[in-house]
Amino acid sequence: MRRLSVFLLELAVVALGVVLGAASASRFRLIPKALLHLPQIDFSTSDIRVVAAALVGGAAVALLGLRAFAGGDPLRSPRRAASELYALLVGIVAATLGLFLFTQIAFSPELLLQSTLVTMALLVLLYAVLTRRAAHGVGAALVALLRETGRLLRSPLVWLALIFALSPVAVARRFTTDRDFANWVTAIRVAANRREALPYSLINALGETRFTTPIMMQFARHDPHTLYVLTRGGQLWRADYPAGTQATRLLDLAERVGYVEMENGALGFDLHPDFGRPGTAGEGYVYVYFTEYRADGQTNRLTRFDLRPPTPDARLATATPLIAQGRNNDGYHNAGSVVFGPDGFLYVSVGEASASDCHQRVDCALVGGILRLDVDKRGGEISRPIGRQPLRGSAANYYIPRDNPYAEDSNALGEFWAHGLRNPFRIAFDRGTGELWAGDVGSTVWEEVNRITRGGNYEYPWREGNSPQAGIAPPAAPLGTPTPPVLFYRHTAFSRSVIGGTVYRGKRWPDLEGNYLFMDNYSGELMAIPARVPPLTEHYATLARSPEVAQRGVTALIEAPDGEVLISVMGDNDHPTGMIARLAEADAANAVRAAPEPKAAATVSAADATRLFGVNCARCHGAGGRGDGPDSQRLGDFVPDFTSEGFHRWRSDDELLTAIREGGTAVGRGPMMPPWQGVLREGELLALRDLVRRWRPAGPSAGGSAGASSAAQ
Ligand code: HEC
Repeated sequence: MRRLSVFLLELAVVALGVVLGAASASRFRLIPKALLHLPQIDFSTSDIRVVAAALVGGAAVALLGLRAFAGGDPLRSPRRAASELYALLVGIVAATLGLFLFTQIAFSPELLLQSTLVTMALLVLLYAVLTRRAAHGVGAALVALLRETGRLLRSPLVWLALIFALSPVAVARRFTTDRDFANWVTAIRVAANRREALPYSLINALGETRFTTPIMMQFARHDPHTLYVLTRGGQLWRADYPAGTQATRLLDLAERVGYVEMENGALGFDLHPDFGRPGTAGEGYVYVYFTEYRADGQTNRLTRFDLRPPTPDARLATATPLIAQGRNNDGYHNAGSVVFGPDGFLYVSVGEASASDCHQRVDCALVGGILRLDVDKRGGEISRPIGRQPLRGSAANYYIPRDNPYAEDSNALGEFWAHGLRNPFRIAFDRGTGELWAGDVGSTVWEEVNRITRGGNYEYPWREGNSPQAGIAPPAAPLGTPTPPVLFYRHTAFSRSVIGGTVYRGKRWPDLEGNYLFMDNYSGELMAIPARVPPLTEHYATLARSPEVAQRGVTALIEAPDGEVLISVMGDNDHPTGMIARLAEADAANAVRAAPEPKAAATVSAADATRLFGVNCARCHGAGGRGDGPDSQRLGDFVPDFTSEGFHRWRSDDELLTAIREGGTAVGRGPMMPPWQGVLREGELLALRDLVRRWRPAGPSAGGSAGASSAAQ
């Protein structure tokens, strides 16, 4: 009896230690930056719960192990209690490693370290209190315990335990400094957290042709058969598309780019809209954005090259500077997209570049926003020469479009089209609507997708995602139009850096038409939201997640002229293992979906669900779910057809349920789909969801899901 209650007390102390450790970790930092260069990681209550459960589990296994090995009563002697301490330490550390490798919580080394320390201290106290009688007082018990803890150090087993206890430090350090190791860890995490199978996959697109760290690819407007690829090291290649043959190096900026580390390197490029059209001014022009890393400082540069001369060296010699923006030397947040808009102006996305003195300003440096330039210097009504020069930088060889929001203000840098962004690494125009979309890489918690409008102020640094940032006051009178993101998502252990993509308008994937496709650099996940979403949603569909590319750094996503979706994947830093991938059907193995069984649905029969649908839903959706109910006339063509494969293909069960429960806007769709929570019971909502699923046409990829749903009746 006593043994059991000691055991339970020990586990309770571990749980308490995590709660107290979490409280202190959100206030203090113990891990020196020099050892582990990590940002402050924000963890949620659910993370704390997962950590507590894991540490209690690890402790329980270790204690039971010790009991089997060293026998019964842990309070028999101070020596036995001291060995209990070491066993607990081993259990907790093993659980920590397990959390790190196999879960996707926002892994916080501070939380784990502080929880462990607090737990160990509490345990020492616990043993001292429990053995105070035999030792004649708590103080004496404490001394005896600590003395035995020291003495046990003579045992090699205890040394092994201590070395093991330090292993998370080594692992964490290696994780932050060695990319291959980090890739390996992420591959394990992705494999361990595989959720439902996804409707698409990513496969290599260009045959044998590989690159070293491809970072961006583009097509010239008038040539769908040539793909241009920029590598992070600064090489611009061309290759036949889609064969991938004839890969030729056009330009080599390696000398200019210099040392590549952190977020530096060649980052983006675009070809002039007239590229390749003989006799035009833009015939040979490519605009490249890169960080130049020299011993005496780092500069973000937008430079034009002419690709007409016959050799890479001769082309390099045509370098014409547009922007040279000095930055401090930490290498962070350079952003890096260069895109010609439908208006013929060049849009450049620049990161805040750690220039906190310029946050929320358009009169400082060319950082933290979207710039809009007239590189053709059309003049007259259209554009005017550059006025003000940026702080720590220089600007030349373009004009300022007169309709830029700050063009008329002589104190402002007229280049700004939008500001208040942190690190809008990838931006792209929707060729259907002309709207500009950006993925803005966030700090430690939130990633954002933004729709960029003229004069928009995207609220960095005072808001990220949908959250005010602690300790940062909003400006008294914010410049421009404060604009929240369209979508935001929270970091997990392997999802933490948004790579903006594009609104899909191709024919190759009809189901994706009108969706903004984007990725995460760490997880290699491909996500989608309808491009007509109302702002501020956290819901997106995951289309593909390829373990092969996880953590190897996706860097860009574009729609090719033939409608394929192309994705650049970095690969190793030193070897040509980077690839251009493309979206593909999920392979046969993935097509079988394991839809989780909704238990509560069993209480509402299929016949009841059909009746409920007829009463509540059919007026819009039609009795047969085809989207042809009497009220659908008024709703235009927005009522979906539940009997089409296209509707079901990439909507998860959860998403359907959310739509029915909370209405269309909860899943980034229209408000005409009303919420039913409160109107219908949970079991009814589930049954209606299953009814909708049963309309999915039978077919090879529909089999798993339809089968699972009908089994729920
Ligand atoms: C007043 C009309 C109306 C009624 C009533 C209605 N819906 Fe809808 N529903 C819509 C419209 C419109 C959409 C499409 C929204 C969009 O894509 O913008 C929709 C979309 C949906 C979707 C798809 C969400 C997605 O992921 O695209 C589901 C599922 C759905 N409705 C289920 C139901 C169910 C179940 C009921 C009855 C309980 C119901 N609806 C009642 C109008 C209605």
